[in-house]
Amino acid sequence: MLVLNDIHHLYPDGESTREVLTLPHWEIADGEQWALIGPSGSGKSTLLHCIAGLITPTRGTVTLDDECISAATEEVRARRRGESLGYVLQQFNLLSSLTVMDNVRAGAYFGRTAASDDEITALLTELGIAHLAGSRSDRLSMGEQQRTAIARALIKRPRYLLADEPTANLDRDNTKRIIDILLQYSRTTGATLIVATHDPAVMAHFARQLQLPQGGI
Ligand SMILES: Nc1ncnc2c1ncn2[C@@H]1O[C@H](COP(=O)(O)OP(=O)(O)OP(=O)(O)O)[C@@H](O)[C@H]1O
Ligand SMILES: [Mg+2]
Repeated sequence: MLVLNDIHHLYPDGESTREVLTLPHWEIADGEQWALIGPSGSGKSTLLHCIAGLITPTRGTVTLDDECISAATEEVRARRRGESLGYVLQQFNLLSSLTVMDNVRAGAYFGRTAASDDEITALLTELGIAHLAGSRSDRLSMGEQQRTAIARALIKRPRYLLADEPTANLDRDNTKRIIDILLQYSRTTGATLIVATHDPAVMAHFARQLQLPQGGI
């Protein structure tokens, strides 16, 4: 269970600060699938960073399985991220000099999950990038990098899967394929899924949606 309460986040803006995110309350039961929507700059990535514990909201609490991660030490948050969270960042954050295969192996390693090469290959096949397993990740197209980042998050079989515009660089067929894979993963494992998106074709797959307005509520 994930509960966010009275979230406000301010970023420095020149001499002063600017509030970029306000969210009174958001409760997500285990296994739910949510689309996080809102215009560019409305704070979708900031909110996902707060849930992942990469940043601490200026005010408010993020509680993951009864543990208040917004008040936890960096060490506790890192452990939480490693154990139970898969996060496909908007900027991918792949290890650029490593191959696709090694990026996914690294995902399993940091998630403390044993994943055989056969399992990784099966996942890459499902994502349509098995032929790139030996390619350096910085020589891939954006859509290929995006799918590598998705494989890296999925291989650790996280209980919480956060994906920040995971189809932003994909064509229509691949968009459908990726969303089907994410939803199917959530349905079969009971994992909670949150997908930030601008794309109406993606939103249409989600019965639950949280809309962030421009400039906070
Ligand atoms: N590190 C930062 N320092 C200062 N301001 C920031 C920082 N990161 C984001 N912002 C600002 O916070 C606001 C929200 O950014 P965020 O990336 O969360 O929006 P978003 O909804 O994910 O947008 P997009 O759809 O373009 O990805 C933006 O106005 C942005 O300029
Ligand atoms: Mg964003």
